[in-house]
Amino acid sequence: MARRPLVMGNWKLNGDKSFTKELIENLKSELAGVNGCDVAIAPPVMYLAEAETSLIGSQILLGAQNVDVNVKGAFTGDISTEMLKDFGAKYIIIGHSERRTYHKESDEFIAKKFAALKEAGLVPVLCIGESEAENEAGKTEEVCARQIDSVINALGVEAFNGAVIAYEPIWAIGTGKSATPEQAQSVHAFIRGHIATKSQAVADQVIIQYGGSVNDANAAELFTQPDIDGALVGGASLKAPAFAVIVKAAEAAKN
Ligand code: PGA
Repeated sequence: MARRPLVMGNWKLNGDKSFTKELIENLKSELAGVNGCDVAIAPPVMYLAEAETSLIGSQILLGAQNVDVNVKGAFTGDISTEMLKDFGAKYIIIGHSERRTYHKESDEFIAKKFAALKEAGLVPVLCIGESEAENEAGKTEEVCARQIDSVINALGVEAFNGAVIAYEPIWAIGTGKSATPEQAQSVHAFIRGHIATKSQAVADQVIIQYGGSVNDANAAELFTQPDIDGALVGGASLKAPAFAVIVKAAEAAKN
């Protein structure tokens, strides 16, 4: 079944007000005319207001890099689903390995974030993936299955209807060492198959992005793989021309 590709930029902790405005202006002109691929950007939450205004009239969708499980109250420093919605954010990254590592986020906590996003009508972009040591120990599938199962066990497989998974091997993030198309395809097929053991229909529609050193030179080949439905892009999403090449490669490969 045909899935509409999604390429999303994860800006991480980068940029300021003027960078946000300028990058979005450049993306708008680079991506004018693209209609066979969904495109989203996740700037730092501080700049969602600038981004929302700059994106008026554009097909580019807004996202965020994290969310809290609570909707309101005494939770110092946190940002809720409703706040993200207020700024028009739709695709919300959760479970990124940088948050799992630096903020000690557990599978159970991430499943609660997933639930909060579904409850709010937002789209979870659930990041999963193994470390280098796990990869070398042959544990890639076991790790991915565990990270997916924490959501399925808490919410049921139907929670993945309309959701996005980003397979991001940790050893490939920010290292310049992307997984090969064949390596990534094999894990993507495993992830889809794992979901299919619970529901074929859910597995058929779920978007599985690849992430980890995707750039303008390697994207096209990654997108030739049948179970790679787009990309979550870090470093290369900070430069409009490179990001546009990645988006257009997805559009060309999947239409
Ligand atoms: P990278 O980051 O493209 O810079 O490797 C991807 C990510 O962490 O989402």
